[in-house]
Amino acid sequence: MKKEIRIGLIGCGFMGRTHSNGYRRVPNFFPELVYQPVLKAVCARSREKVTAFAQQWGYESFETDWKLLIKRDDIDAIDICTPNNMHAEIAIAAAEAGKMILCEKPLARTLAEAQLMVDAVDKAKVKNTVWYNYRRLPAVTLAKKIVDTGKLGKIFHYRSNFLQDWTINENLPQGGSVFWRMDADAAGSGVTGDLLAHCIDTAMWLNGGIRDVSAVTETFVKQRLHEDTGKLQDVKIDDACIFHCHFENGSLGLFESTRFARGHKALYTFEINGEKGSLRWDLHDLNRLEYFNNEDDAATRGWRSIHVTDGDQPYMNKWWVPGLSIGYEHSFVHQVADFLKSLESGEACAPTFQDAFETQKVCEAVLNSASSKKWQTTDVNWKTHAG
Ligand SMILES: NC(=O)c1ccc[n+]([C@@H]2O[C@H](COP(=O)([O-])OP(=O)(O)OC[C@H]3O[C@@H](n4cnc5c(N)ncnc54)[C@H](O)[C@@H]3O)[C@@H](O)[C@H]2O)c1
Repeated sequence: MKKEIRIGLIGCGFMGRTHSNGYRRVPNFFPELVYQPVLKAVCARSREKVTAFAQQWGYESFETDWKLLIKRDDIDAIDICTPNNMHAEIAIAAAEAGKMILCEKPLARTLAEAQLMVDAVDKAKVKNTVWYNYRRLPAVTLAKKIVDTGKLGKIFHYRSNFLQDWTINENLPQGGSVFWRMDADAAGSGVTGDLLAHCIDTAMWLNGGIRDVSAVTETFVKQRLHEDTGKLQDVKIDDACIFHCHFENGSLGLFESTRFARGHKALYTFEINGEKGSLRWDLHDLNRLEYFNNEDDAATRGWRSIHVTDGDQPYMNKWWVPGLSIGYEHSFVHQVADFLKSLESGEACAPTFQDAFETQKVCEAVLNSASSKKWQTTDVNWKTHAG
């Protein structure tokens, strides 16, 4: 007997599309799940835009005011796909209305906002998850499995980059519906909350808590026209951020993110070096995991390039046949499936608001370190939930 989870999605931009695609594909590829998503309603402020989106993706109805969506008793779960400045207000209202919440990352603009969100879901005891979707790419999940077996031995280094180049043009504005990421009021921060938050989530999932950080940030274009005011205003986001850190397990971390690396569009990479082996991964070749095992026969030892497409590798028995690739969008399909599975099992669907709050602590420590030019402790209390 199937059970329905009636989704109310807020925001129909980039993430609105990836999530909608996830909900639509899950019943076909994860037919064994008891819970199945129903695209009940979508919300955006523009009536024209939201009706077109509802029709395109098969939502039964629409709203133009998210508060009305939350009030509806035919909605079980609220999915927050709005810019970062809306996350806290919507999530707190949704929790108070007893709805499950799936929230985009970063959890909030600041740690203080994130704390209110964690308090709200704890108080209401509602199911929650945050879309740090890269965990659910099969090669990244395989990296986690290898790390957890202890095959890498003691870990010495973790390094990660997230490089883009889309804001080099100094004539790009800030703010408004398109360039909200460049406006600190809407985004909270620049690359730290937008890109490094992903790197930090994956890093702590794979390698445990980050204890302290030392960071430097730069804003290369100091002023940009603001779309809302029409005035040239100071840019308050970080265009680039580099930090190094200590992990709780004694390893050293090195992270870099920028939107000024000409030629790089979304180059997310990580590498882990342990006593017995190393792993590395690159979003531009997302089905591959590279693995060096120092315990291999010395004559043939070298980096293995594992094409993660076999049925006994994470998630891959749900898709095609061995050797055939899947893509970026499947990470969202997998997160929907894992969320629905967690409703059956009663377990948390990681990363939860609490997990994303720990990531937010690191982001905040990074920004504080950059402005104070001092090392900052994070007070992270990292414990990895299953799944
Ligand atoms: N997990 C990931 O890899 C990933 C990737 C991109 C973005 N994100 C996150 O997803 C969120 C949305 O980003 P995006 O790229 O989809 O942005 P976007 O600009 O493409 O879409 C945002 C949507 O929110 C809508 N919106 C804004 N204010 C609203 C309101 N008051 N009521 C209803 N709708 C409103 C806009 O109309 C738009 O449709 C951000 O928090 C971002 O950080 C995550």
